[in-house]
Amino acid sequence: MTGLTFTCRGATVRHGQGRVAIDGIDLEIGAGEQVALIGPSGAGKTTLLSVLGAALRPHEGQVIVGEADPWRLPGRQLRRLRASLFNAPQAPPLPPRQRVVTAVLAGRLGNWSLGRALWSLVRPGDPRQAFEALEVFSLGDRLWSRVDRLSGGERQRVSLARALVSPSRALLVDEPLSALDPALAHQTLSALIGHCRNRGDTLICSLHQVDMALEHFPRIVGLRDGRVAFDLPSAEVSNRSIRDLYFGHEAESDRVVVAVPRSAPVPNPMPAGRCVP
Ligand SMILES: Nc1ncnc2c1ncn2[C@@H]1O[C@H](COP(=O)(O)OP(=O)(O)O)[C@@H](O)[C@H]1O
Ligand SMILES: [Mg+2]
Repeated sequence: MTGLTFTCRGATVRHGQGRVAIDGIDLEIGAGEQVALIGPSGAGKTTLLSVLGAALRPHEGQVIVGEADPWRLPGRQLRRLRASLFNAPQAPPLPPRQRVVTAVLAGRLGNWSLGRALWSLVRPGDPRQAFEALEVFSLGDRLWSRVDRLSGGERQRVSLARALVSPSRALLVDEPLSALDPALAHQTLSALIGHCRNRGDTLICSLHQVDMALEHFPRIVGLRDGRVAFDLPSAEVSNRSIRDLYFGHEAESDRVVVAVPRSAPVPNPMPAGRCVP
């Protein structure tokens, strides 16, 4: 089973009061690709992940996941498609009183009958599988803990362990490192990418840590103001593209003004001998 492909054509989403969150996005992501979405807060990363993950319908344009536009599929096929996508939001909605083992194994629900899913709430089957997935993120010792006893970073990693046991063919992960220290962040990202590589799953991941995005992902999509500012192999992303992405094109002229030492003579913008009419 190979990873899913994603295509956006002119995808536009407006949130409340007509505010544009993503604005005519064109994007193609191949099966098994690993893509990092970066950009300033409010750039549209979470919204784009929701559109790609068939959780949010674009107001204009189209998204194609695999072969199909999810919003034109009949209910049963849409459910099947969603079962092959793993959406990991920044704050995973894990039931607070649930045991970690149950929360992780719930990642397999897409494969299970209703009866089996309900029974798993009473008696979690296959705790070893949950343990192994948790161990990948150094959380094996939390197998029997209650979810509400976990830190924010541990909850995020439980959500990723859940992705590991899921039947998904694509992972859409929103800022998985936001509550992790740098060492754990590197380990988590390596584990996630290794898992997707082994299975051939597509991975689309939003990140605030530009250095980690460049180090771990072969392809970087920079978003700014709801648009694709650049879409490049990571080796081709320059400091300048990063600066423009986060500070805008005007940043350079601002920087020049700030960089002029106070003692330096102020250059005369008018060539000598000319005057303003
Ligand atoms: N539920 C919402 N209601 C209103 N505006 C929203 C909502 N979600 C996001 N937005 C707005 O849409 C824009 C893009 O947001 P988002 O996709 O969350 O960006 P990012 O993930 O890059 O920070 C922002 O201007 C944000 O304020
Ligand atoms: Mg976001």
